[in-house]
Amino acid sequence: MYALRLHRGFRAVVRQTMKRGRADNCRMELSAEDRLFVLTGAGISAESGLATFRGSGGLWNGHRVEEVATPEAWEANPELVWRFYSMRRRDAMAAQPNAGHRALAKVEERLGERFYLCTQNVDDLHERAGSQRVHHMHGRLFESRCERCAVPFVDTALYESVLPMCEKCGHAVRPHIVWFGEIPLDMDGIYAELDRATVVLVVGTSGSVYPAAGFVSIANRRRIRTMYVGPEEPLNAHAFDDIVLGTAAEVLPGLW
Ligand code: APR
Repeated sequence: MYALRLHRGFRAVVRQTMKRGRADNCRMELSAEDRLFVLTGAGISAESGLATFRGSGGLWNGHRVEEVATPEAWEANPELVWRFYSMRRRDAMAAQPNAGHRALAKVEERLGERFYLCTQNVDDLHERAGSQRVHHMHGRLFESRCERCAVPFVDTALYESVLPMCEKCGHAVRPHIVWFGEIPLDMDGIYAELDRATVVLVVGTSGSVYPAAGFVSIANRRRIRTMYVGPEEPLNAHAFDDIVLGTAAEVLPGLW
């Protein structure tokens, strides 16, 4: 039930009436008891110049991300998969954190261990902005692992012709990324954090990929506050208490 999967009705977005705020007058009040759970998606890195997956420009060489981010794609064409992740490594290295990343690092400074950031992103821009309590549920772009030894290691290399092999056992080395059909990392830890959160903030994700798209429903069952920030409504917009339409870099610095 935890495996990464795309919402079947992704393109059939149902618009519903909801509380909406403008980017310039939205604030999130936090008391000394509040615990903030933040989920980010590709949208938070958009203003750093990294392409989102499902917006315009969301194709890579004519491939949808679901065609290169699967164990089947890896089996059939590892060169193609490594070219895709090498391109993403190159883009992420050239990118800088934006005001949205920095605002999250700043609120973490204030909240300390009452803050938890779960990101679907594999780039390292949250860390480079100063965030410390970051969990990369879909893996890390700058790590790889041997298919057999399975121990992740730091790897910033680009593999565009010669593919990497494990020095210990000779098996293929793959990106340390959670592909469609695989299990996101430390789901138990994420659910434990959701269980003790009092506020959930979701930023820049289309709400089309599960299990992350289901976190807001868990928050609803616990009757805790939920807010979405992004320039357009996500697929699961109906589940949020508040939707703030604006970009991460516009909205987040003024939220606290
Ligand atoms: N600020 C905030 N949000 C933005 C911005 C911005 N500047 N620009 C775009 N967005 C929003 C878009 O409106 C869209 O809803 O970011 C969202 C990006 O959606 P997707 O491309 O679907 O990315 P995401 O939801 O993170 O994808 C989830 O799918 O491909 C897999 O594993 C991959 O982690 C990824 C997962």
